[in-house]
Amino acid sequence: MPTYKAVQGTRDILPDSAPAWRLVEETVRAVCERYGYQRIETPIFEETGVYARGVGEGTDIVEKEMYTFKDRGGTALTLEPEGTAGVVRAYLEHGMHTQPQPVKLYYLRTPIFRYERPQKGRYREHHQFGCEALGEGDPALDAEMIALLWEVYQRLGARNIVIQLNSIGDQNCRPQYIERLVEYYTPLKDDLCDDCKVRIVKNPLRLLDCKEPQDQPKIAGAPKSADFLCEPCATHFAAVRGYLDALALPFSINPLLVRGLDYYTRTVFELAPEQGGRRQSAIGGGGRYDGLAELLGGKPTPGIGFGSGMERAVELLREQGIDIPAPAQPQVFIAALGAAAKAAAMTLAHDLRGADLRVQIAFGERSLKAQMKAANGSGARYAVLIGSGELASGAYAVRDLAAPADAPDTMKQQDIPRTELVAWLAEHIG
Ligand code: HAM
Repeated sequence: MPTYKAVQGTRDILPDSAPAWRLVEETVRAVCERYGYQRIETPIFEETGVYARGVGEGTDIVEKEMYTFKDRGGTALTLEPEGTAGVVRAYLEHGMHTQPQPVKLYYLRTPIFRYERPQKGRYREHHQFGCEALGEGDPALDAEMIALLWEVYQRLGARNIVIQLNSIGDQNCRPQYIERLVEYYTPLKDDLCDDCKVRIVKNPLRLLDCKEPQDQPKIAGAPKSADFLCEPCATHFAAVRGYLDALALPFSINPLLVRGLDYYTRTVFELAPEQGGRRQSAIGGGGRYDGLAELLGGKPTPGIGFGSGMERAVELLREQGIDIPAPAQPQVFIAALGAAAKAAAMTLAHDLRGADLRVQIAFGERSLKAQMKAANGSGARYAVLIGSGELASGAYAVRDLAAPADAPDTMKQQDIPRTELVAWLAEHIG
């Protein structure tokens, strides 16, 4: 028989990491709601054009990383390689421009698929939470967006997170900057890595994102986008910085920060933990995308957002030793001997759960000793024991599993009539 494993670059989220996932999810939900964001979830696949046009043909994501396939009807579909294009498609499709602007949306635990080289923190399926605010170009919204992402990580208790910020201009000023960048790189062309030789023709901004050691000195000396901003972009960038200063957020300008998706205009930002002066891989990033709605066939609609990797958030909590609330344990464990007692255990469990208690019963045909061992290991406060004697008398034995060893027997165990048992346990546990 074949045996199967999870596909390379994908991971099971097992129960032992569930409390950390839950903490991240609950924190994101609470912070987003405080900032007035509403939940949206879009399908995990879209027509390929949504991403090919939205994210951009010259990007790594579209060129090398998308999971694209034809469905049985022959439609070209792609598994969501990022969250923004689908949200903008939904905004346009549902006429959300008629609502008060900006429309502020968040998504949570959205599966994202990229055919990347798997390594720590880089998976072929990962999950993101993210926010998108559409229909408003106000730089205050940019600052609020960054503050929101920052607050999520503060509330989680993360330390040493740095915010990097840049502006990459818009369709008016970016062409001049790109021209200057190409001019700068052209004499260095023969000495570039193979990918950069392609980037200089196809997507020059991405030259600044190269990770090859040989190209780092060239990146350091490259012209900076912020020096080429037109007047409106420069004013916008200054306002974003002003609001971030007012909020006392610890950001620094990284004049070489560009992002891996083509839709960005003006503000771009990333959050990453820093360790020993070295910046780790980003836990979140985003920016403004004022031209994206038009690329997807809509009217010009400004937008800004971020996405943040949930696996990376969970990993960060672990690495930084952050306290994670323990998973809820059962409050009552029911042990039963014999078929009639098992039936009584089932109905008691049903009634107790109806009273909002967390209850487990012992399954299988085990000895009382084995069942009590399971009860003690379960973390429950009380064990209820049902045997033929209890069934005959109508009162069940209730054992306090937290009673000290030297407590009198009457404190450790007592018989409670079945008719009063649900109320008794609810009161003693509540
Ligand atoms: P991104 O920078 O490609 O942006 O991804 C956002 C975050 O997702 C990253 O900062 C990282 O934490 C996480 N991430 C990305 N790739 C992987 C991977 N292979 N494995 C694990 N985690 C990963 C976007 O996707 C944009 N849609 C963000 C955005 C929203 N911009 C505007 N609105």
